[in-house]
Amino acid sequence: MMTRRKKRKVKKDDETTEPSVIEGDGIIVIKDLTKKFGGNVVLDNISLTIEKGKTTVIIGPSGCGKTVLIKHIILLLRPSSGEIYFKGRRIDNLNENELYKVRTNYGFLFQGGALFDSLSVADNITFPIRQHYKVKYWSKFDEFVKTKLSMVGLEGFQKFYPSNLSGGQRKRVALARAIALNPEVILYDEPTTGLDPIRSDVINELILKLQRELGVTSVVVTHDMTSAYKIADRIIMLHNGKIIADGNAKHIREHPHPVVQQFIHGQVNEDDLAVLRASGTIFQTQFLPRDFEE
Ligand SMILES: Nc1ncnc2c1ncn2[C@@H]1O[C@H](COP(=O)(O)OP(=O)(O)O)[C@@H](O)[C@H]1O
Ligand SMILES: [Mg+2]
Repeated sequence: MMTRRKKRKVKKDDETTEPSVIEGDGIIVIKDLTKKFGGNVVLDNISLTIEKGKTTVIIGPSGCGKTVLIKHIILLLRPSSGEIYFKGRRIDNLNENELYKVRTNYGFLFQGGALFDSLSVADNITFPIRQHYKVKYWSKFDEFVKTKLSMVGLEGFQKFYPSNLSGGQRKRVALARAIALNPEVILYDEPTTGLDPIRSDVINELILKLQRELGVTSVVVTHDMTSAYKIADRIIMLHNGKIIADGNAKHIREHPHPVVQQFIHGQVNEDDLAVLRASGTIFQTQFLPRDFEE
């Protein structure tokens, strides 16, 4: 019994000898990930290394698999095939109990990951702590909630209820809750969707601030290119289950793939729409390519 224990410990310390451990500097490593739902191949043999302390943004049109991809990072979905690693340790083969522990390293701000309406802002923020730990020192909670609220610019909101908050404020409380356990990684799924440009920009600023001040690694799913360009160290575009573009904002802006260009320029801006609606232009002439032939 003793020897077995010892052996295990040695293995854990010397991670390179562990067959289920991957080397490299990625905090998250996705290897040959395929996800199918029935016959629908959503992710097709994707490999991706996410660097520690950086903000990686995943873009792509609705339904291309962005949410499915980030859910695999914390195994809210299991791969059809392939492997997922967190800090060198393979995690896609862990059971739910073990995953529960791994997930304490993550904060997530997911679509539909709403606040609990019946709980105050303070109780919403401390919820993950009460869920994961036996709390002995309740008095420390006040200070804790204060710190988290000041990080998201909502000092004094402890006693409010979600119904008294605007959409942007609710997102910020959700973010304060996401950082409750001092996560190393924060996953955001469409954090600016449904917010007006100013409120969206507050969220962008917060994402940047958490990266700068806490050194967190962020993975952000969005189809909002303004947000992507502002926050990303690296942008990845998904299309037909594959990564078709991967690089910094400049690389994406100048990317030769027509699907990338179409996507990044296909964003209809509300101001443009207003002009179109107001103008009432009738396009009487339709040009065809042959009209330009000699
Ligand atoms: N639990 C599920 N069961 C079956 N199909 C799913 C499930 N979750 C997602 N899908 C499918 O996977 C594809 C990608 O979905 P999703 O990742 O939500 O797209 P998005 O890029 O908009 O986030 C869609 O075709 C969707 O219908
Ligand atoms: Mg989605």
